[in-house]
Amino acid sequence: MTRDLMHSAEVKDLVRAAYRHVPPTTEVVARKLYSDEELAQVPDPAIRRALGVANHLRHAEIKPGDTVLDLGCGGGIDSILAARRTGPTGRVIALDFLPEMLERTASAAREAGLDNVEPLEGELEAIPLPDDSVDVIISNGVVNLSARKTRVMAECARVLRSGGQFCVSDLTVEQEGLPPEILTQPAAWAGCVAGALAEDDFVGKLKRVGFVDIDVLDHQPLSIDDCALYPLFSEEVIALMRTLIPAEQHASVAIAVVIRARLGATP
Ligand SMILES: C[S@@+](CC[C@H](N)C(=O)[O-])C[C@H]1O[C@@H](n2cnc3c(N)ncnc32)[C@H](O)[C@@H]1O
Repeated sequence: MTRDLMHSAEVKDLVRAAYRHVPPTTEVVARKLYSDEELAQVPDPAIRRALGVANHLRHAEIKPGDTVLDLGCGGGIDSILAARRTGPTGRVIALDFLPEMLERTASAAREAGLDNVEPLEGELEAIPLPDDSVDVIISNGVVNLSARKTRVMAECARVLRSGGQFCVSDLTVEQEGLPPEILTQPAAWAGCVAGALAEDDFVGKLKRVGFVDIDVLDHQPLSIDDCALYPLFSEEVIALMRTLIPAEQHASVAIAVVIRARLGATP
């Protein structure tokens, strides 16, 4: 019910506006999610732009020569790490709907000396790629931002080859427990919390579009203090969360998960 409080076009506009103007994070998000060894492989501007919620790359099977699609690449940190693993015989298609983000990813790839990262402007809900053209889909903190999640998952199933892998980090909620005053805050949606699905719902939608062997890995609670690390949340919204969300929920307003699945064989 609370999912319908904002219209999908309104959601898309607010997400675009929030990410177009998002400032860098002074590395706090990247330092929380990635090891020093991983960060040593990434240029500084992409580290400062990291806005993910977990580290699915540790669970993704990316082989040399693979074609990887990074949904909502943002500043490019995961595209860079994945491109190192595909090697020069493979490639990473870095998709985002904001040209500003694509320019950041392209610039980070140049700085990293990688020429196998291909920025692609487009939407998760209408991925501009042919059917059966991708081996692995990765994404970090992005699916929850869409108001049309089943459509996004159906698009993932369309572009993945049969047997291909979907391995993403995202937020889930245990129940629809957040107050409507928070769910309707644009910053709470842009900050990946208000649009998050319950875990069962996420898994059910993946099954419905043809995914099998679905594993939910790495459950990490996201506290209000964690939300404050992301520049999407204003001090005002964080204060509102502290006031309106019951104290016993402050340590876990959402759960960061890694979801890994395989596309079943097409009949
Ligand atoms: C939370 S940031 C994550 C960025 C990156 N994955 C990372 O880990 O730093 C979300 C990104 O998804 C992009 N995005 C959000 N909704 C999108 C949509 N419907 N289609 C394409 N890109 C979208 C935003 O522009 C932004 O770059």
